[in-house]
Amino acid sequence: MSVKVYVPREATARSLGADAVARSIAEEVARRGAAVEVVRNGSRGMFWLEPLVEVETGSGRFGYGQVQVRDVPELFASGFLRGETHRLSQGPVASIDYLKRQERLTCPRLGVVDPTSLQDYVAHGGGAGLRRALSLPPAEIVRQVTDSGLRGRGGAAFPTGIKWQTALQAPGERKYIVCNADEGDSGTFADRLLIEGDPFCLIEGMTIAGLAIGATRGYIYLRCEYPNAFDILNAAVAQAYQGGYLGADVLGSGRTFELEVRLGAGAYICGEETSLLESLEGKRGQVRFRPPLPAIEGLFKCPTIINNVITFASVPIILERGAAFYRDYGAGRSRGTLTIQLAGNVAHGGLIERAFGMSLRELLDDYGGGTFSGRPIRAVQVGGPLGAYWPPSKFDTPLDYETFAAAGGMIGHGGVVVFDDTVDMAAQARYAMEFCAIESCGKCTPCRIGSTRGVEVIDRLIGASPVPDGYSGADSQEVLLRELCDTMQYGSLCALGGLIPLPVLSALDHFSEDFHQSNRHRVSRS
Ligand SMILES: Cc1cc2nc3c(=O)[nH]c(=O)nc-3n(C[C@H](O)[C@H](O)[C@H](O)COP(=O)(O)O)c2cc1C
Ligand code: SF4
Repeated sequence: MSVKVYVPREATARSLGADAVARSIAEEVARRGAAVEVVRNGSRGMFWLEPLVEVETGSGRFGYGQVQVRDVPELFASGFLRGETHRLSQGPVASIDYLKRQERLTCPRLGVVDPTSLQDYVAHGGGAGLRRALSLPPAEIVRQVTDSGLRGRGGAAFPTGIKWQTALQAPGERKYIVCNADEGDSGTFADRLLIEGDPFCLIEGMTIAGLAIGATRGYIYLRCEYPNAFDILNAAVAQAYQGGYLGADVLGSGRTFELEVRLGAGAYICGEETSLLESLEGKRGQVRFRPPLPAIEGLFKCPTIINNVITFASVPIILERGAAFYRDYGAGRSRGTLTIQLAGNVAHGGLIERAFGMSLRELLDDYGGGTFSGRPIRAVQVGGPLGAYWPPSKFDTPLDYETFAAAGGMIGHGGVVVFDDTVDMAAQARYAMEFCAIESCGKCTPCRIGSTRGVEVIDRLIGASPVPDGYSGADSQEVLLRELCDTMQYGSLCALGGLIPLPVLSALDHFSEDFHQSNRHRVSRS
């Protein structure tokens, strides 16, 4: 029997040399005439260990971290095919603390399976949710999702069951399932990791959604900057067709579900669901007025469920284990698990799936291990480019939607970006406004014009440009900035313009010293 050696095919690992390592292992195997099968798995989500090479042994999978081509002959010589110790050894992978302390309900197969093997997916429990769904009437599938308490993981945390119920009840001969895989938030990668590591789980979740509302066609709108995910996803879709998981007769049930992958248009606003639908219809990505909601009138004016990758990927386990099992995890009205993405200036960046309720401090200390630079953490931004900047005094806030919102933040898609004490928070606030100006779809005035004016006001506030005659100094500019943010928050058509005040004002409120002109020489350190 051959030994299985796993080398990730995921983009981070590849960017760190995983392809060359896989080739080098194959060459060494040929030289030695060893019986070895090299499997290209997904990433476990421990980026500082990539490329993480794993070897399957009788006592589980043993890991070797940060492997480079030059290490390969030495690994063979020291008996890594038997899991023996080497300076790069990480021991049994499942026992690595970072992984052991996670609750992987949505991502149990991440880094474990070959993402392009349907057989491997099924061998690791995949498909059980779909089989159960096929035995249930549509309303019962929707009830399971509703009762589980699952809320959308794309950012807005809308109850998934209510959305599905609306689409189920909406009249229409044709209905659609659309997956939002545009993943535009800074510091986020959970969608990509899931697609590159366990794409059949997403396909299964979308197929269950199709059964739930009577939709026979689905689209995955994938961020165009994800070419590796695109290849893996297309390979998985092709296999799912071959294996009878997609097509005109899903698992012999006589039910149809067709699925296609489409590349996104490359704009942040195309992640907003109505812009995404415009883009999918071949038009320029611009926000639609609501109502009607997409669940009633979405793609090509048909009832459409649009959900995030992680939302769909959470559905199979809910159907397999039942709503109560999933609901049992979490805190308050935030049920189940959150896939947190830890990024920025952090020692141990990666994916952490835990039940809602863990504090930010626990996340940063126990998982993150401090900053990469070794300097103190000064701020984190949670929730992507529209999320608040928080100082350490707020780190005890638990990660659940309501508590976070009550504390003036938002969890969004679960991205957490860490900054050390060299960060210039006025520059971060300016960047938020600039980002909005660049990415605005232009449909409404508060966002289109307000964001550009916002950059100008911040420049005047910090003394980077002169204050016009008739305005008296920095205070007037701060009043102006706050009024502008108020207009954007309440007057914008969608959450891009509506939420950009959050990073701007949180920076101003918690790090006001960086905005004072007298301090600017000090904060220009970054
Ligand atoms: C400016 C903007 C960008 C967004 N980008 C994304 C995105 O990249 N991925 C995503 O899933 N949701 C994104 N959303 C949220 C979607 O509009 C929508 O709420 C989500 O796709 C619904 O799926 P869910 O209920 O599963 O979260 C964005 C929203 C806004 C306002
Ligand atoms: S807030 Fe900005 S992105 Fe949203 S609709 Fe208005 S102009 Fe477009």
